[in-house]
Amino acid sequence: MAGLRKLDDGLWVVDHRDFSVGGLRLGTRSTLVRRAGGSLVLVAPGPLAETDLAEIRALGELSDVVVPNQLHNLFCVAVAEAFPAAKVYAVPAIRAKQPRLRIDEELGDTVPGGLADTFEMLPLDGARRVDERLLFHASTRTLVGVDVAFNIRSATGLLRFAMWLNDGNDKLCMTRLGKSQYLDDHRAAARSIDRACDAFDFDRLVVSHGEVYEGGAREALREAYAFGRR
Ligand SMILES: [Fe+2]
Repeated sequence: MAGLRKLDDGLWVVDHRDFSVGGLRLGTRSTLVRRAGGSLVLVAPGPLAETDLAEIRALGELSDVVVPNQLHNLFCVAVAEAFPAAKVYAVPAIRAKQPRLRIDEELGDTVPGGLADTFEMLPLDGARRVDERLLFHASTRTLVGVDVAFNIRSATGLLRFAMWLNDGNDKLCMTRLGKSQYLDDHRAAARSIDRACDAFDFDRLVVSHGEVYEGGAREALREAYAFGRR
């Protein structure tokens, strides 16, 4: 049973642990943040159950939905329909991938004015197939980076084997497959990670696959992209 899990003041996640990609139980994660004005913003919505939606509604008005990369787009239409008054922000490629989604504003290289009181934002460069925007929530010292890295811990069975092939078990990393499929320019990606680590004083990293990285996430993310500096 999923449900909202509180990580910090004004910060929750929903862990969708049963979500599978290509037969692999990789899981995914939705992130919910309380804005300064009291309303809520949902980032990278996953397969939220009715009970999850009810929990969100019980916390207050959902004013914004953010689709911060082009791969995590399967559930944004359902969420936008469930919250018809919410403003929807998405990376440009989502228009073609989810033509039924109403997009109020496309995400560019800088944070949209409507979200600037909640997040700082930088793009992950060198990753055209992902087109990720990294979102920093200063009051909880949290970086939300959906596919910027994997943090699969204590996997068993097929997932452990797949992660072994991918050099991705029990550490924060970009997997072998991720490096080849997600990243088209390793050096540009590493430079943008360094830029984000210099600009944002985060201690926690919320990724969508694996565990939330708690404590020392900035150093761990820098290390995870060492391959792009060699
Ligand atoms: Fe992903």
